[in-house]
Amino acid sequence: MGQRIDAAALVDRESGIIARDIFVSEEIYQQELKQVFGRAWLLIGHESQIPNPYDYFVSRMGEESVIMTRDKSGQIHVFLNTCPHRGMKVCRYDQGNARVFTCPYHAWSFSVDGNLTTKPGGLVGVPQYKAVYRDDLDKSKWGLVSVAQMTNYKGSIWASWDPAAPDFETYLGDMKFYLDAVLDHRDGRPGGSEVIGGIQKWKVPSNWKFGAENFIGDLYHITSHRSVDMVSIGPSGQGRRDAPTGDKANRKPPPPFGSIGFPNHGHGLIGTLPFYAEPDYTPSFTLTPEVEEYYKEVYQRRVENLGDKARGLAPVGTIFPNCSFHGMQPRALFTWHPNGPREMEMWKWYLVDADAPAEVKNVLRQYYLRYAGPAGLTEQDDMENWNYATAASAGAEAGRYPYNYQMGLGYEEPAPDLKDAVFTGPVTEQNQRIFYGRWAEFMDADGWADLNPGDSGNFAALMARRKA
Ligand code: FES
Ligand SMILES: [Fe+2]
Repeated sequence: MGQRIDAAALVDRESGIIARDIFVSEEIYQQELKQVFGRAWLLIGHESQIPNPYDYFVSRMGEESVIMTRDKSGQIHVFLNTCPHRGMKVCRYDQGNARVFTCPYHAWSFSVDGNLTTKPGGLVGVPQYKAVYRDDLDKSKWGLVSVAQMTNYKGSIWASWDPAAPDFETYLGDMKFYLDAVLDHRDGRPGGSEVIGGIQKWKVPSNWKFGAENFIGDLYHITSHRSVDMVSIGPSGQGRRDAPTGDKANRKPPPPFGSIGFPNHGHGLIGTLPFYAEPDYTPSFTLTPEVEEYYKEVYQRRVENLGDKARGLAPVGTIFPNCSFHGMQPRALFTWHPNGPREMEMWKWYLVDADAPAEVKNVLRQYYLRYAGPAGLTEQDDMENWNYATAASAGAEAGRYPYNYQMGLGYEEPAPDLKDAVFTGPVTEQNQRIFYGRWAEFMDADGWADLNPGDSGNFAALMARRKA
């Protein structure tokens, strides 16, 4: 790569103006792969996708293919899916079970467990080793490449290529409350979720950041979803999804709800502040009594388990850079994988309580598919916007005019009970500014010494610029 692009000049967080180039330029994209995807913690998958030893699931980190697998002892590993000999993919399937990956090209083989002399992923078989290598090849040096860091957070698997990246929980900061709201059992127990069915993957002719910025909290685009709001696809045959809190006069007021952003980390969401008394139960699955029964029961257990201090609820959010989620309905994790500046591959994992009855999982599965994914009524609307926005931003003339992210600029409040977080009413572009500000820092930084969220002064700077 030649000279690095100065991303701070393209993302002006003080004025809320962002250059279109960051969505269409090939040069910026190449820098992004290295500076953002080469450093950040990225979602790989969920442990429930590989329950048995040697189960594997092929995932992605940026443009690169990786294999998430489990060894004999149950330990999970993430390997780069490329043969050290001449680069061939050692695994060309989406998922399966294999103790050894044998490269299709010249048949070097790599053991998930390794052997006495090699590590997990180690090179264990070389055809004609004695005859052609004359016994003279150090197999211990030519195994599959492992990610620098990996973690299992409540069943979700994350990895980074950068050994200097802070541990995952430091990277998350208090966004943790909201990832918990996605991964925890609906009765409040930590973890306890599983991925239902296979995952959905589809390509969209859009820059990957459109997905990430929409899910970090764009409540302004309700017009796009007008038709799906009218056809009542929610589990109770109303709206798109059922409301989390009731509106009857005798119900407790819902907790404060709005945009919550983490300027030192780049994450954000639309949701409630983290500690509040649980609102009364709202009947949600009135068309399917057995599902309604289940939800009522887990609600009661949730009140018992968490007492008066429920966790945060997050209908939607983004963990920097390319993982988003729906924390309530339809509960899911997504990744926006970059395929060049003008195409992304969307992946979607749908989550359910692992021990929910089969009929509950089935009703949820049908609702999830009705709502989301390539054929889901709601997501079709979103993709259309991102496709056309990417195409219409690529021209030389269009490229002269930046995008406007000025909504709510200067009106951010410190969020109570959350470290270094800001909170505004739901409809604002606060979180998008935070996301792109952090993106620019990753693009420009030489390493984690400049990026450590613990040392970042973005929160303080944002508070200093407040108008109110
Ligand atoms: S490329 Fe894999 S063995 Fe040659
Ligand atoms: Fe949308």
